Amino acid sequence: PARVVVLVSGTGSNLQALIDATADPGYGVEIVAVGADRDAILALERAERHQIPTFVVRVGDHPDRTAWDAALATQLAAYGPDLVVSAGFMKILGEQVLADHTVVNTHPALLPAFPGAHAVADALAYGVRVSGCTAHLVDSGVDTGPILAQRAVPVEDDDTEDTLHARIKDVEHAMLVDVVGRLARHGHTLTDRKVTIP
Ligand code: GAR
Repeated sequence: PARVVVLVSGTGSNLQALIDATADPGYGVEIVAVGADRDAILALERAERHQIPTFVVRVGDHPDRTAWDAALATQLAAYGPDLVVSAGFMKILGEQVLADHTVVNTHPALLPAFPGAHAVADALAYGVRVSGCTAHLVDSGVDTGPILAQRAVPVEDDDTEDTLHARIKDVEHAMLVDVVGRLARHGHTLTDRKVTIP
């Protein structure tokens, strides 16, 4: 199987969907570690419950972002991942990590609409009638990398950030499981922003 490290910052429902998918050996993924930028989060508990090694690299424990990025790169290198998945990891990854790894991110909006840390609230405030989620390769911009998959979700009149985000997460879990599995089993090629999974 492909060696995958998942990066998290919160609840870890996307991590859980990936963990559940790995129960099938045909899925082709082994989650070799879960990394976070903070401790005491449900996502780390989920990893521990499944005997998956965890590590935490906090921005505040480093003099600057460059040093933090280098420390995260060192931790990742220890696990030799074929793929890194950012699943609710709420930090912008630095140059070193991106130079060393292929990173997939999942985002709760239809990019390029509503990038950033408040995508669901921003989409709701804008008044869109359809939103959704996007899986993309991470580049040095904020949610700007080549798109791997998108799923649309309707916005209801009485939606709050929580109800819309919950509806998005339902389809996001399936989207991420599908994309990570296909990348793990088949690899990818990239030509001018166009990703092909053979
Ligand atoms: C997911 O919806 C993910 O797309 C989003 O955070 C949620 C994490 O949920 N990520 C971002 O907003 C990144 N900008 P989870 O911890 O339950 O998987």
